[in-house]
Amino acid sequence: MVGFTAVFSALLAAQAALAGPIRSRTPYRVKDSHHVPRDWRRVGRAPGSHIIDLQIAVKQGNFAALEKHLYEVSDPDHPRYGNHFSADEVKELVKPTDETLDLVHEWLGDNGIVPSAYSSAKDWITVSLPVEAIEQLLDTEYQIYEHKEGGKVARAPAWSLPAHLHDHIDTIQPTNSFFRARAEKFDHVETPIYIDAQYTPSLNSTLNAVCNVSSVTPECFQTLYSTKGYKTQASDKNAIGFNNFLGEHPIRSDAELFLAKYRPEAASSAKDFPMYTIADGPGDYALTPQEIEDGTSKEANLDVQAIAGISWKTPIVSYSTGGSPPFDPSVSTPTNTNEPYLVWVQWLLSQESLPQIITTSYADDEQTVPKSYAVRVCNEFAQVGLRGTSLLFSSGDSGVGAYGTCISNDGTNSTQFLPEFPPSCPYVTAVGATKNFDPEVVAYRPAFTGPDGVSHGNYTSGGGFSNYFTRPPYQEEQARSYVENLNGLYNGLYNKDGRGYPDIAAQGLYFAYFWNGTEGTISGTSASCPLTGGILSLVNDALLAAGKPQLGFLNPWLYKNGYKGLTDITSGSAVGCGVDGFPAVEGWDPVTGLGTPVFPELVRLAGGRLP
Ligand SMILES: *[C@@H]1O[C@H](CO)[C@@H](O)[C@H](O)[C@H]1NC(C)=O
Ligand SMILES: *[C@@H]1O[C@H](CO)[C@@H](O)[C@H](O)[C@H]1NC(C)=O
Ligand SMILES: *[C@@H]1O[C@H](CO)[C@@H](O)[C@H](O)[C@H]1NC(C)=O
Ligand SMILES: *[C@@H]1O[C@H](CO)[C@@H](O)[C@H](O)[C@H]1NC(C)=O
Ligand SMILES: *[C@@H]1O[C@H](CO)[C@@H](O)[C@H](O)[C@H]1NC(C)=O
Repeated sequence: MVGFTAVFSALLAAQAALAGPIRSRTPYRVKDSHHVPRDWRRVGRAPGSHIIDLQIAVKQGNFAALEKHLYEVSDPDHPRYGNHFSADEVKELVKPTDETLDLVHEWLGDNGIVPSAYSSAKDWITVSLPVEAIEQLLDTEYQIYEHKEGGKVARAPAWSLPAHLHDHIDTIQPTNSFFRARAEKFDHVETPIYIDAQYTPSLNSTLNAVCNVSSVTPECFQTLYSTKGYKTQASDKNAIGFNNFLGEHPIRSDAELFLAKYRPEAASSAKDFPMYTIADGPGDYALTPQEIEDGTSKEANLDVQAIAGISWKTPIVSYSTGGSPPFDPSVSTPTNTNEPYLVWVQWLLSQESLPQIITTSYADDEQTVPKSYAVRVCNEFAQVGLRGTSLLFSSGDSGVGAYGTCISNDGTNSTQFLPEFPPSCPYVTAVGATKNFDPEVVAYRPAFTGPDGVSHGNYTSGGGFSNYFTRPPYQEEQARSYVENLNGLYNGLYNKDGRGYPDIAAQGLYFAYFWNGTEGTISGTSASCPLTGGILSLVNDALLAAGKPQLGFLNPWLYKNGYKGLTDITSGSAVGCGVDGFPAVEGWDPVTGLGTPVFPELVRLAGGRLP
């Protein structure tokens, strides 16, 4: 992303910024601070010459209006339902006021700093500066922090701004965000495969003939969710995208092997789906020996195979965004910002046309991110929604929180459940996981120690309530009544007024897939999410074929009508934090949401055309 010109201007800017004391109209005050999450350890001062691409979130002109429009065009009972906005119309709503931009530019200019890039709506300004200049500009100190699983970042837990800018800048990153994209997958295969005591093969011979609990395949999904036999009618107008972070990139030869075995008519689609490379993300190439050793691209392979197995002939689009840890703090060249989501969504919003669905199988604990940052990234997702794209995120693989980590990051160390971000953002659709077939129940596989002596934690569909985002209007009734019916269970461990997630669910245990030329199985809400995206892309196909707009931001429709086209999951719970966690019940619950798809019903409810 940073070209020669940007580097050159950054160096000039750096010289100017270092030339004298900071100039500001008003005194500095602390703008934001965030506790360093427990998994990070300070290992020293950041080198002053290390260059960071600093992203300034300039206050958006009229986000309240944008949110209102989003809810209106996504509400099936509103006259403007389906009237999604163009890129320019969205930009118009979020572009900062002239006053705001002038004040920010004045502050940067007074300090000799030249912006190196703007987001398309100018609501984010990028400046590339050495750490020592940023430390003056934000009256802070950068330290190097190392994650317990490895990987270093340069961060400043507290930072300041001139008082008169506090209302004009929402956040500046990377400063105090410790977000670390984590793939929501479990690729450990125990021998023998875990099958729970309550599992009984279906008495329905059609289902039983194609669904194998040890290795679930596209034919099982097609049968279980009733997409079998559906032929796409609008694939020239439709698309589904998926995100890759952490150096992941989908491997075409593996996707071809998978499709040749499980969806032969779709095999050619592995050859030519576009792979966009953003911010120096990985491109289109076979696995290198190092990547094979590291297990890279298991997630990316799962995602593309789960989608292609169900959504053919809907075109598929892959996005690989760079900017992930680890980084080398000793190298004083411009490096990534370690904020790949933001980089990706800014890039996406600069595009004129978007796929109708985009799935993402990465997340982190909400509390690793300061609220100001979570809110601004979530606001970006609202813009994508207003343009008519459904954003699907995996809900996490640890129920209410991974055992032993359920400690608040607010300075008190109190025990609490750990919601995940971005699924906790109210403008996205979070996808949980199920297993078994008749009935489907919450996906759960207990902790075990493998033959190699390595122990693996519990895997359960993730769910809970946000501590940052309040309950959105579309789930007011369902989420409130769920909380009331808990009758005080888990009081004090979660935010009763928070946005509850997931919204929907699908299979997520032992997916058949190929990696490194070999077949295996892999689990996680990482699997449920692209599978659900694939099914919903077929619903969009039926809508587009009927001359109707695609579903767009799903939740208002799901909670009002769409849930009637889902199978309610009522058994199991979000096991985590050493307790059973939120139970699946009749109606919405924070472990499987409203349930799993029944394709023809969803099409009928949405008003699509079945051939
Ligand atoms: C068996 O399952 C298939 C696929 O879901 C379904 O179409 C069929 O109606 C089921 N049969 C019975 C007897 O329930
Ligand atoms: C189910 O899948 C497992 C793992 O691939 C395989 O070993 C087993 O033979 C399959 N069972 C049936 C009935 O096909
Ligand atoms: C919370 O835990 C951290 C890390 O173990 C410790 O340094 C800190 O003193 C604790 N704070 C409180 C208030 O107990
Ligand atoms: C990758 O595939 C090669 C060739 O089949 C094989 O020799 C190697 O063991 C595989 N590596 C892993 C980690 O699966
Ligand atoms: C797995 O979950 C059970 C049930 O809550 C709990 O007792 C156990 O400690 C958990 N184990 C691990 C390793 O997370």
